[in-house]
Amino acid sequence: MKKILLTALTAAICIFCQAKPQTELNIIPQPKSVSLAKGSLKVRGANFNYDATLDELTVKAIGRLAEDLYICSGKPSSMATAVGVGKDTPIEKLKGIFFFKDGSLAAEQYTIEVGKKAAKVCASTMNGFLYALSTLRQIMPEAIFAGKTAEGVKWTIPCCTIKDEPRFAYRGLMLDCARHFYSVDEVKRYLDIAAFYKINRFHWHLTEDQGWRIEIKKYPKLTEVGAFRSGTQQTYDKTKNDGKRYGGYYTQEQIREVVEYASTLGITTIPELDLPGHMLAAMASYPWLGCAGGPYQVWTRWGVSDQVLCVGKEETFTFLQDVLDEICELFPSEYIHIGGDECPKTEWSKCPVCQAKIAQLGLKDGNGATKEQRLQNYVTARIQKYLAGKGRKVIGWDEILEGELAEGATVMSWRGTTGGIKASQMGYDVIMSPTTYCYLDYNQGPGSGEFLGAGYTKKGKNYDAANLYSFEPLADIPESAAKHILGVQANMWTEYIRNERQLHYMLNPRLQALSEVQWCTPENKDYTRFESKMKAKHFKILDTLGYIYRPID
Ligand code: ACM
Ligand code: ZN
Repeated sequence: MKKILLTALTAAICIFCQAKPQTELNIIPQPKSVSLAKGSLKVRGANFNYDATLDELTVKAIGRLAEDLYICSGKPSSMATAVGVGKDTPIEKLKGIFFFKDGSLAAEQYTIEVGKKAAKVCASTMNGFLYALSTLRQIMPEAIFAGKTAEGVKWTIPCCTIKDEPRFAYRGLMLDCARHFYSVDEVKRYLDIAAFYKINRFHWHLTEDQGWRIEIKKYPKLTEVGAFRSGTQQTYDKTKNDGKRYGGYYTQEQIREVVEYASTLGITTIPELDLPGHMLAAMASYPWLGCAGGPYQVWTRWGVSDQVLCVGKEETFTFLQDVLDEICELFPSEYIHIGGDECPKTEWSKCPVCQAKIAQLGLKDGNGATKEQRLQNYVTARIQKYLAGKGRKVIGWDEILEGELAEGATVMSWRGTTGGIKASQMGYDVIMSPTTYCYLDYNQGPGSGEFLGAGYTKKGKNYDAANLYSFEPLADIPESAAKHILGVQANMWTEYIRNERQLHYMLNPRLQALSEVQWCTPENKDYTRFESKMKAKHFKILDTLGYIYRPID
């Protein structure tokens, strides 16, 4: 009887243990499944072993962890190919930290098993291994991020089993380098922290009314003229600016450097050439691109300009295609973002050349779209076709849905989720990026510690991490259309974000909240747990890495 009771009690305790949420490891984004066991593995001086079939970049990433462990713990770790053992070798037979390729796992899946003598990490792709490495770093002492030897640290990781995979394939983060310019090193630091939270797409906003930031060899004035403005609006008052020359651009060599760097972090860089609106910097460089022929100035204020590309002219398409040729050479991404947002039709409705094009194409008002709107549809379709000829697909802001949109375009839903819901039902792929949750330029609170951002509340909503965390990307999406929601992206517009300190303050901890929206299924999300993980571990990691953040109240 006693024995039965004891067994029942043990079973009850075990059920209790299993049911208890596994928050102790403080991993962000929360893995799909985590189970903690008793004991820990010593990692100081541990030997790293990897499958001989792993690619060079994966081996380098493993090497970075081995090296950091050496630097921070003061004891060297060896790196060698695993011999005579494989993914099916029981962990009890291993000693050290092992990385095995497991072809049965999906592209971004990984597993980690930590025993008292060994850890076994399995994945089938570089990205799977990168996510496992990020998770491993997160379960190590914070001293692993210090970049120097730390004293008095217990270099162990807890025994556990982690099985993990993302909810969404597209996990994006945008940076507007046009309103304010960020150096290559600043962009790299932005990518480092994004990758650490398992973001896999970097949307690089490179062209704007207020600045053209990418060297295009065929059109040198884009950077000689278009990369610089004569002043910057500093407050919400559009009539005032500081009158100081401001600008910068990336050479093609620097662009390649960033694209390559991102790829080593498992991030694909998607460039945005915003067209046919938001093009004043290009028009200031080559005034024939505009309906009125100029002169134009790189804009010194924020907002939406009425002055947009003249799309009645063939020369404009030649220009766009030439620019896209160079962009496609620099960015190997499957997608090119072609903007499409905020394109007023004031100029087109007055321009004889644009009106002649409308007549030639037989475009008419009707069915909820003006003939000028249909002219924008023509531009989108023509550029989409041009890029398809180069094997690329387009993403556009949700305005591209107004009127008609050719098959195969992907819609980035920013004006709420309505456009995304509609597009997914029509069979277009969608990336959800609604302003009220995913715009990181809005202040996170009304506090006096905040600098001037794009604003604080809109329709009674806050823009803090809790708000972003509450976003459910599939809300109101019929089940049949859910497959079209590729994922979620947050956007860092930088009108009011002038330097890296402000950038990091606006990013953290919304980046971490974003990562759980992108990675975790709704059942696996828990804001209270997220907050406690931030407080217990991640703010310390950010401190150690030197990233500024907004504290959670
Ligand atoms: C946008 O915020 N104009 C896409
Ligand atoms: Zn025109």
